[in-house]
Amino acid sequence: MASSPTRTASGVRVRVPAKINLALKVGAPRADGYHPLATVYQAVSVYDEVHAAWANPDEFDVVVSGEGADLVPLDDTNLAVRAAKLLARTQAPNDSLGASLSIKKSIPVAGGLAGGSANGAAALLACAVLWDLDITADGMRALAAELGSDVPFALLGGTAVGSGRGEDVAPALARGTYHWVLAFGYHGLSTPAVYRRFDELSPNAAPPQVPADLMNALRSGDPRHLARALSNDLEPAALDLQPRLRTVLQTGLEYGALGALLSGSGPTCAFLVGDEPAAVDLSVSLSAEGVCRAVRRATGPVIGARVVN
Ligand code: C5P
Repeated sequence: MASSPTRTASGVRVRVPAKINLALKVGAPRADGYHPLATVYQAVSVYDEVHAAWANPDEFDVVVSGEGADLVPLDDTNLAVRAAKLLARTQAPNDSLGASLSIKKSIPVAGGLAGGSANGAAALLACAVLWDLDITADGMRALAAELGSDVPFALLGGTAVGSGRGEDVAPALARGTYHWVLAFGYHGLSTPAVYRRFDELSPNAAPPQVPADLMNALRSGDPRHLARALSNDLEPAALDLQPRLRTVLQTGLEYGALGALLSGSGPTCAFLVGDEPAAVDLSVSLSAEGVCRAVRRATGPVIGARVVN
């Protein structure tokens, strides 16, 4: 292993997008406790940044700034730290590598937008480049899957079908750019808690399948078509845990959204609109209503984790 000092003297910065699930179909829990999923991910233009710099051998540290920074753990449970350590341990076990990580957050914590997974994916990429490791895309994907169900998609980006527990991703045929308005909740939702409530509400969940109408809508590139095909099996469970989210979704539709759904396990609500002016109008209306903590406009699909200068 050789470092390339010119490139890495000041470290490596990676930008990584949030995701929403255009469809999230969930089955009954497997023997390992995870739920089989058939999901369609789309990466949207809300980004975190992870910077990695050399640290003393075997030393790993992390600082976090920005949106919800105080909610992010700084110990070994931090997904970026876990990613860096996993990479060092598996790819260069004899090199005593270390990394100093810095995360700049715009993706809300515990928002159903895979912010933690995005940080894990970004740290994998940043450290692989920093340490000049010889790792294949397949090798990266395998480590990403070990870190979490949504991490492989954060590396890939775009629009993709996810199966297994969500970690098995394949690009989807999708046309066009979609305009989204994201309404961030006042309080986060715990993903395991939402899945537990799902199990109570849907004890006989059928094996999940990606909806054909959604795949057709994506091929058409027509947002009206896509709006009709959006679905999330976790929505009843999340609404049960945070009933006010029902009002958020209804308000967005009343103000002209083509479609509305909960992102992942929530509480972020995603509204599909026809174009940029409609996104501006809806953002203003939702902010004025005060039904959510903050509103962000975003477009998708965008690319996954990438090194930036
Ligand atoms: O894979 P990840 O660590 O991101 O998952 C977080 C939690 O979400 C899991 O511990 C599990 O409770 C739940 N989960 C699940 N089925 C999935 C994905 C996540 O039950 N397919």
